[in-house]
Amino acid sequence: MLSKKVSQITPSYTIGISTKVKELRASGQNIIDLSIGEPDFFIPPAATKSGIEAFETNQTKYDVVPGLMPLRKAIAEKLYTENNVSYLASDIVVTSGAKHAITNTLLALLDQGDEVILPVPYWTSYPEMIKICGGVPVYAVTHAADQFKLTLETLKSAHTEKTKMLLINNPSNPTGAVYSREELLPIVNYCIEHKIYILSDEIYERICYLDTYTSIPSISEEAKAITVLVNGLSKSAAMTGLRIGYTASSPEIAKAMSMIQGHLVSHPSLASQWAAVGALTASKEVIDNMVDVYKERREALVSQLNDMTDISYITPDGAFYLYLNLTAIKNVITYEGSFSLKVCDDLLTQYDLAVVPGIAFGTDDYIRLSYATELSRVQEGLKRIDAYIKSLKA
Ligand SMILES: Cc1ncc(COP(=O)(O)O)c(C=O)c1O
Repeated sequence: MLSKKVSQITPSYTIGISTKVKELRASGQNIIDLSIGEPDFFIPPAATKSGIEAFETNQTKYDVVPGLMPLRKAIAEKLYTENNVSYLASDIVVTSGAKHAITNTLLALLDQGDEVILPVPYWTSYPEMIKICGGVPVYAVTHAADQFKLTLETLKSAHTEKTKMLLINNPSNPTGAVYSREELLPIVNYCIEHKIYILSDEIYERICYLDTYTSIPSISEEAKAITVLVNGLSKSAAMTGLRIGYTASSPEIAKAMSMIQGHLVSHPSLASQWAAVGALTASKEVIDNMVDVYKERREALVSQLNDMTDISYITPDGAFYLYLNLTAIKNVITYEGSFSLKVCDDLLTQYDLAVVPGIAFGTDDYIRLSYATELSRVQEGLKRIDAYIKSLKA
């Protein structure tokens, strides 16, 4: 008998799509896969070098739970110089990817039945992670007119006496929305006033196309005290498979998370931690170049989208996703259940194109595609979506 917890968990849509893509590729189909949120770059050479050195110098034994001191120092230095927020190395806990940083946070702060306010659209794993950790996701629906950003009014309407936490993702996966300081202030001040913790998932913070980015804990000492900042190297340094994330938080929360992590996983792989030191201390230029490439792609794709009919979208200010609204074709398509699943299924089976249905992010009128892929392939993907829409309207 599996646990009741498991029966509440929805299987991952994205893993379902990858499995189908693999099957179709195995049968000889040339699929364009824009479903994956994974950089198409290799890790910075300095990261490779320090990872290899870790093996060569036999850094292969158990080490301290919250992460190597040189790495925690490099993270604190990065947060200070790039994000304008001051943490001690002892406030940092290094984790096996940002996913693990999020689950550490939820495990440390949630009691059974505590509510977590989740702006919709949300990253697909959040509701399931909250449920696994005993919490209850409370959905706060944002609007395209607000660039899918949470407003104070929406936050207030989701707030109950059971609210323990607000989970905010900035820049957002799937929309690419980035909050300005002015937009964050009323939200953060409300959370301070009402003693609501903030889990600020800033994993895409380095991939931001605006001149300024505001990290929530940098807003004030009070903001810092209630916030657990989550970040990592998966997206910024293309280190997805090396599984390095981290939290920065108050000493009390850091201590609790370290205790939990000590029992569940000890610490992330040492070679990966050393690679992260290389990525943080000697790879600025390489990472800046990756961001420039994403930016160029974004501009080319936005101009292509402007020539397409029946699609609306918000220009992403960060991350590497396009979130396309297909409401205009809803009345010319026959489907049962989920509209976005039907669209994605048609695109995959008839147009050899893999994208993610909006239902995975809580908004069924949308599809998400990633441009962390060679530009010409993404452009071809958009052409296929255009051809699909035209065929429906013919
Ligand atoms: C918003 C968001 N948070 C966290 C993660 C997980 O990152 P990691 O691979 O470091 O666990 C992802 C990965 O797609 C993401 O999109």
